[in-house]
Amino acid sequence: MPKQGKSQTSRQPSRRAFLKTSTAAVAATVAGSLAIGRGAHAAGDDTLRVGLVGCGGRGRGAAANAMNADKNAKLVAMADVFEDRVQGSLKSLKPKLGDQFAVTEDRRFVGFDAYQKLIDSGVDVVILATTPHFRPIQLKACIDANKHVFCEKPVAVDGPGIRSVLATAEEARKKNLSIVSGLCWRYHNGVRETMQRVLDGAIGEILGIQETYLTGGLWTRQREPEETEMHYQMRNWYNFTWLSGDHNVEQHIHSLDKASWIMGDEPPVRAWGLGGRQARDRNPVYGNIFDHHAVVYEYANGVKASAYCRQQAGCYNDTSDQFVGTKGRANILKHRIEGENEWRFDGKGGNMYDLEHVALFNAIRNATPINNGRYMAISTMLAILGRMVTYTGQTLTWDQAINSQEDLSPASYTWDADPPTLPDEDGRYQIAMPGVTKFK
Ligand SMILES: NC(=O)c1ccc[n+]([C@@H]2O[C@H](COP(=O)([O-])OP(=O)(O)OC[C@H]3O[C@@H](n4cnc5c(N)ncnc54)[C@H](O)[C@@H]3O)[C@@H](O)[C@H]2O)c1
Repeated sequence: MPKQGKSQTSRQPSRRAFLKTSTAAVAATVAGSLAIGRGAHAAGDDTLRVGLVGCGGRGRGAAANAMNADKNAKLVAMADVFEDRVQGSLKSLKPKLGDQFAVTEDRRFVGFDAYQKLIDSGVDVVILATTPHFRPIQLKACIDANKHVFCEKPVAVDGPGIRSVLATAEEARKKNLSIVSGLCWRYHNGVRETMQRVLDGAIGEILGIQETYLTGGLWTRQREPEETEMHYQMRNWYNFTWLSGDHNVEQHIHSLDKASWIMGDEPPVRAWGLGGRQARDRNPVYGNIFDHHAVVYEYANGVKASAYCRQQAGCYNDTSDQFVGTKGRANILKHRIEGENEWRFDGKGGNMYDLEHVALFNAIRNATPINNGRYMAISTMLAILGRMVTYTGQTLTWDQAINSQEDLSPASYTWDADPPTLPDEDGRYQIAMPGVTKFK
């Protein structure tokens, strides 16, 4: 494992250079690249060859979900920046997947460029489950190489990343490639049916939306001796905004996605909000993220969505999506409608994590592509806009936010490169200060 002084040279272009080229229109040399129907994949038979990028908790879960979803799929390649993560996932997946586990030694890739090696190793489908920062680069590389993708949420951490994902999603559409998003509630039967009823008018016109994601604290990692700053932050990624987006982006996106869904995936006009950190004190293990955000999103039709998220132990917890309309109210996670059209879902929710992959494999096998690209980008941008207003203390419009020039990437991806957030001489990280931190 690379530590201080043993820098690993990555062949990956810097994200800045990459974003410049990716947002320029990608002229389609699509011809001939896209036979996606039955039997058209790399193995030359009905087997779909799946590669996993990001061998952490969710990556392992998603690989198993994919194998549950399609018994003719095989996991053939794995990639992670860290060797121990590849080995750990291998140990747990091999016995679980039986014959569907086919990751030979030469298809286990490690390092910042591991994802590209995996893409080039002859897979048909790629699962992207790394930390959010890398999603725009990796998604683009998959679509450039004509791969179908299961893409975990959130899909970016900044405006340039979102613009890249939107451009890539459009490219996937032109190429008839599928992108299925890990915004899993969109694949939960009870949530889908409740949302559909609300969209069909069961509570009348929407007047207001309340989203909560109030939980305890999350994990941190202590610094290891001699670890480079980049290495440390990559291990402790959740606590650094440039890697996770902050917790309102990383977690609360599930709630914001439901608000966006009910608003027809049309963005709000503007947002304002407040946030900060208290339970996450100045201990460097907490990096530079906040521990609470409260944001109001204002839509063109007058609807306001109030969104609250908190990660502080010992407080009131609640995760819910509640909509009020002219004819009643809906509680989405309880699959319940009250008012003129009283209703409660009494079916089975199903395993939404499996169902996402069922949808993906059906789309590939039946040549009926699914492209969740736009909504996964819009919902991620809602969250990023929320962070921008809580960090700056300003009201920002959607247009300002999505055109933001703030690029949260390091100059290069190597173990001895400087991350964009560096500790001061006391080892502490600078934390955004509303009213002082500027929008960029
Ligand atoms: N949809 C859901 O319900 C759900 C649930 C959990 C996590 N997630 C998402 O899945 C993603 C991963 O979360 P997790 O809990 O598995 O975290 P994790 O830390 O357990 O796993 C992330 C893995 O990605 C690896 N990684 C980081 N950068 C990489 C790069 N550039 N190339 C290759 N590998 C890289 C890390 O080393 C790590 O092994 C996050 O975006 C998270 O939001 C979604």
